[in-house]
Amino acid sequence: MAVLASWVWVLIGYLSAAVAENSNPSSLYPPFWEDTSGEISGFALEDGKYIINPWVFTDRMGLYKILLSKTAPYFAKYGPENEQNLLWGLPMQFGWQYRTGRLVDPTGRTTCGYKTFDELCVSVDSWWADVNYFLSVLPFLAAVDSGILGISSDEFTILPPPLDESRFCYNVSDCKKLVGEIMDSWTTFFQYMQLPSSDFDGLLQHLWAAHTASLEYPISVFADRRQEVMDTIEIDKSSTEPLNATTLFLTVLSVVTVQSKASILDTSEAVEAIDRTPYEDPDTEAP
Ligand SMILES: *[C@@H]1O[C@H](CO)[C@@H](O)[C@H](O)[C@H]1NC(C)=O
Ligand SMILES: *[C@@H]1O[C@H](CO)[C@@H](O)[C@H](O)[C@H]1NC(C)=O
Repeated sequence: MAVLASWVWVLIGYLSAAVAENSNPSSLYPPFWEDTSGEISGFALEDGKYIINPWVFTDRMGLYKILLSKTAPYFAKYGPENEQNLLWGLPMQFGWQYRTGRLVDPTGRTTCGYKTFDELCVSVDSWWADVNYFLSVLPFLAAVDSGILGISSDEFTILPPPLDESRFCYNVSDCKKLVGEIMDSWTTFFQYMQLPSSDFDGLLQHLWAAHTASLEYPISVFADRRQEVMDTIEIDKSSTEPLNATTLFLTVLSVVTVQSKASILDTSEAVEAIDRTPYEDPDTEAP
């Protein structure tokens, strides 16, 4: 029950708390939200296909904006202005990762993500960016497959990252093969959403199932990039318990919850102060 309570806070709490306590509406939205169109036609067209590069911050955020706007009708009965849309948690979390420097290249081998160089670059070397791929591109592809977006899968191409191409998937059929369970769980969520009998609790349960299903694959496949994250998160290092997916998820979730709450309610100056600080192990030197 405690788990569900913190999860509900992540999903719904951000926005309603922010709306209540923050008078500047633009600071409620994730970074660059206004710079993405919320339509597939907002992407560049090449050879008759829209080109989506999820390793560019605004492209990945653009997928969320499409998801949020196309699912808005299904949340209209729960509140005005799409504010009760349960999917808000995803772009908010991704925006928090960006603001706190979690999407930059932690190895320092490239300038990917650094403010004055490649500000919009999302690094494939970032564990956060890798895991988030399965919480952004995958729900998008499942939504395409479920028909809820009115977009067909041959209208667009998803570009691979510069490294580790085979650890990701890029279209509906490919993703069903690589991570069928993740695709199924998101498809179930989007299908349930379209049922006249769907309700808020049911939506929350299906979303929770899809969210947790999305983490298992990336957490095991990107375990090589996880250690440096775990070194940085404030965990009890004396603990000898081996980390499993559940524990890791809860640790990450609790950090996300606390820090997102803090950062979204912060003044813009405080947000600016942490803006784009490379996220790295405090014991290592800055690149
Ligand atoms: C899907 O992606 C795979 C791997 O990138 C590719 O081989 C395949 O042709 C793609 N399928 C479609 C229908 O685009
Ligand atoms: C993960 O670890 C926690 C704490 O050690 C334990 O309570 C839980 O049952 C474990 N879950 C799985 C799936 O092994």
